[in-house]
Amino acid sequence: MLEVNDLHVSYGAVNAVQGVSLRAEVGKVTLVLGANGAGKSTTLRAVAGYHKPKAGSVLVDGADLTGSRAHKMVRNQLVLVPEGRRVFATLTVEENLRIGGYRASRAEVEATMAEVYEQFPILSDRKGQQAGLLSGGEQQMLAFGRAVMSQPKVILMDEPSMGLAPTMVDSVMTKVREIADRGIAVLIVEQNADAGLRVADQVSVITRGKTVWTGAAADADTAAVHAVLGETALEK
Ligand SMILES: Nc1ncnc2c1ncn2[C@@H]1O[C@H](COP(=O)(O)OP(=O)(O)O)[C@@H](O)[C@H]1O
Ligand SMILES: [Mg+2]
Repeated sequence: MLEVNDLHVSYGAVNAVQGVSLRAEVGKVTLVLGANGAGKSTTLRAVAGYHKPKAGSVLVDGADLTGSRAHKMVRNQLVLVPEGRRVFATLTVEENLRIGGYRASRAEVEATMAEVYEQFPILSDRKGQQAGLLSGGEQQMLAFGRAVMSQPKVILMDEPSMGLAPTMVDSVMTKVREIADRGIAVLIVEQNADAGLRVADQVSVITRGKTVWTGAAADADTAAVHAVLGETALEK
């Protein structure tokens, strides 16, 4: 389980995150909603070890990992699926997956890859293809598969639905739910509130770098989300 308490992150004089608190639990999808510029990506990047927080704490299963670098977070089974997917375009699907499993022994990599192919049949079908030739939705599946290769217990996902056609958004969200159901704590950031709410158990809303609302997804009715986020949340 992931616990983020009163996180503060800045870029020089810009205080992008100033009081974000979040939880993510095994088997659950926690959705973080917030308008453009609210500090969602900054939060995920700081939690995953790509920025040092200025204050606050990050705990994974009770262990204080605040300020640890990304490779250490991965070793502690927390991994980020970054905004924009970031697959290695000139490498094959399988090579991309191997990169995700770089910490493991060869036998472990093969076993995990078999599981990933079972979980993501599209990646199995395309294993020899260059990742750059996949559709956006397929690249998102690859980004998920690469994260699963590191055998995480916490996966952070930054706007996986971004730029995808509506039917692809549905398959990506269904996959998000499946990943959580396999016993992983999933923390997902979305500006597409409708899509996120379809699979979320818990919701936190961030406004101007602060958590302003946390509750069950069932209570985050669209009117309330709309009231907090304003016009941006429900239109895409
Ligand atoms: N590298 C950076 N340098 C300076 N300011 C940044 C940088 N990245 C993001 N910001 C600022 O931090 C705030 C939060 O950005 P971000 O975390 O990307 O928001 P979100 O993901 O919610 O859209 C914004 O005001 C943004 O302009
Ligand atoms: Mg962002």
